[in-house]
Amino acid sequence: MAVAKTLEAPIEVYRFEPGKDAKPHYDRYTLTVEPHTPVLTALLRIRTELDPSLTLRYSCRSSICGSCAMQINSKSRLACQTPIGPEIEKHGRLVVEPMRNQPVLRDLVVDQASFWKHYDRIEPHLKLDPRHPMPEGKPNPMTPAEVARFYETPRCIACAACYSACPAVEADADFPGPMALAKLYRFVVDPRDQAHQDRLVRIQTDGLWLCLRCHLCTEACPKDVRPSERIRDLKELAIAAQGGTEPGSRHAIGFKENIRERGQLQEMKLVRQSDGVGGMLAQAPQGLRLWRKKPEIAKKPRAIDDLDQLEALYRELDAPPRDDS
Ligand code: FES
Repeated sequence: MAVAKTLEAPIEVYRFEPGKDAKPHYDRYTLTVEPHTPVLTALLRIRTELDPSLTLRYSCRSSICGSCAMQINSKSRLACQTPIGPEIEKHGRLVVEPMRNQPVLRDLVVDQASFWKHYDRIEPHLKLDPRHPMPEGKPNPMTPAEVARFYETPRCIACAACYSACPAVEADADFPGPMALAKLYRFVVDPRDQAHQDRLVRIQTDGLWLCLRCHLCTEACPKDVRPSERIRDLKELAIAAQGGTEPGSRHAIGFKENIRERGQLQEMKLVRQSDGVGGMLAQAPQGLRLWRKKPEIAKKPRAIDDLDQLEALYRELDAPPRDDS
């Protein structure tokens, strides 16, 4: 009978008990494990065999409940879905820490109040028009093409890995975070929801444009919801509904037209397109400092060769989507 290969895994675990510990520290353990052993299983063994005080959150152990998200070698992951072997092979060790962007309650458990507050704020339920109730006995009047528009979003298990990975959440507590925005998208494109327009108008001033488009949320998502793509879709819908009403939407529209003109960014012009003349004047001292270091920003860049090819690309992107339903 083949004997399973094992490895000696060095594991460093973040430990902190607010009110008792002056500051966080890391405890080091070594476990003999098989390469496919999930990080969660190793942590539970540490708790059972070595240190019963280790505190962590988990439930299903099957990537379903979303409870066990944590930082594993600096990436937001589900501990029950992450095998130890590849981590040790890549990093030479395993470092386990609590999720970021949420205060630590103890060891690997964080306070998720802000994550859920943002979720509540988007009102994550269908708002049906009482004048048009759903027909009796027809609970799902949508076409397959309509359902396909939000096919990925219900896969979300609200693990908050995206929230932990998001630098916009770190920079601004008002940013709703990737999960809340992906869920909002789901209701905006649901034809049964009667509040599309209100939702889009509200989110434009409620953090939508704070997204940095870094795609770290999509990289972190264990269920391939691809939140950054849903946020991009929301931005497109918001512009289609309202045009450029906010600095964020004006920046997006201005950036597109700016590049289209010469194939290169005209930086000064983009400031005016995003913030208007008033905004430009407000940023004048900063602009002057920048101009002294880099005078070329005030000049119009030359048009790139083959500008017609760029224009063809724009026309292709602007063409209405094909209806495959
Ligand atoms: S324990 Fe449920 S997702 Fe990991």
